[in-house]
Amino acid sequence: MKILVTGGAGYIGSIVVEQLIAAGESVVVFDNLSQGHRAAVHPGAIFVQGDLADRPALDAILSEHRPDAVMHFASKTLVGESMQKPFLYLGDNVTNGRNLLQSVAEHGVKRFILSSTANLFDQPERMPIDEAERIVPGSPYGESKYLLERMLHWMDRIYGVRFASLRYFYAAGATPQRGEDHHPELHLIPLVLQVALGKREKVSIFGDDYPTRDGTCLRDYIHVVDLAQAHILALRALDQGSRFYNLGNGEGYSVREVIETAREITGRPIAADVAPRRAGDPAVLVAASDKIRKELGWKPKFPHIRDIIESAWRWHQANPNGYGDS
Ligand SMILES: NC(=O)c1ccc[n+]([C@@H]2O[C@H](COP(=O)([O-])OP(=O)(O)OC[C@H]3O[C@@H](n4cnc5c(N)ncnc54)[C@H](O)[C@@H]3O)[C@@H](O)[C@H]2O)c1
Repeated sequence: MKILVTGGAGYIGSIVVEQLIAAGESVVVFDNLSQGHRAAVHPGAIFVQGDLADRPALDAILSEHRPDAVMHFASKTLVGESMQKPFLYLGDNVTNGRNLLQSVAEHGVKRFILSSTANLFDQPERMPIDEAERIVPGSPYGESKYLLERMLHWMDRIYGVRFASLRYFYAAGATPQRGEDHHPELHLIPLVLQVALGKREKVSIFGDDYPTRDGTCLRDYIHVVDLAQAHILALRALDQGSRFYNLGNGEGYSVREVIETAREITGRPIAADVAPRRAGDPAVLVAASDKIRKELGWKPKFPHIRDIIESAWRWHQANPNGYGDS
């Protein structure tokens, strides 16, 4: 297949592109490089620099390359920023996604995969969180993903576009060639590894009085390569119908456990202090991934936090300045 990947210069998108090419697919990347890195784009992919706000650019890429499928990663991604600047998310994220969907419909593309989020589930009634959980977005960021899911519902009904919405929990880890280099970096594992590298003085633990085994928040980390495999499996199943999947390991690790494991792997002390809780951080967020395991045979190859951190550490050691372009 030929696949158009928006956001394919970003963290998850670039690794999905790498895995798609390894699986023999051909790939066109569309990215404005606002957060992504040109060097992260696999040399086997065609790269087009452009912005989703630019409908003519989207129409041109779809007319020229006639993809069989679109994977949509390009987005603003910061929950906290979305609480400060809601219309960047309820505006840009939604309008950009709508532009893409409209071009997809008008060019007759019938397969679409959306990067959705665990932030759809702000008040889960059951843990781990399965697909039957009530959707209560936790922020304008989560709301923007939910609005795109709703648009996709109508795209399926009206235009026959088959879609998968993959609701990721916490993507982490790296391949030897590609890793996580966000600016600003707000994700726990790269922050901890930046302390190990001496690029940051310490890491903050936001709250140690949660009702968890060590008082710190539990989160479900999924290796980015396992996430990429889920995209490939979902892509191949799309012709049998649209679907939603929650994607994590089903295993929660606490902030302290992540830091402790990183200390063991890196052999560095990694200073950490305890700061007040952050508003809106639930104590536990863990995904039930039974549905994708059962329907698509997805099975994470790297479920353990140690494998995830080891792969990230290898990449950060080899690339202490990330892609070196910021
Ligand atoms: N990282 C996670 O743990 C996580 C969890 C849940 C969901 N997600 C979702 O997965 C996707 C990828 O996340 P990531 O961590 O790789 O983010 P990222 O910021 O590394 O990648 C996003 C890419 O999109 C590009 N982009 C942004 N706006 C654009 C626009 N208007 N036009 C063209 N390109 C644009 C950026 O330059 C960047 O390369 C996002 O949609 C995010 O919401 C990520």
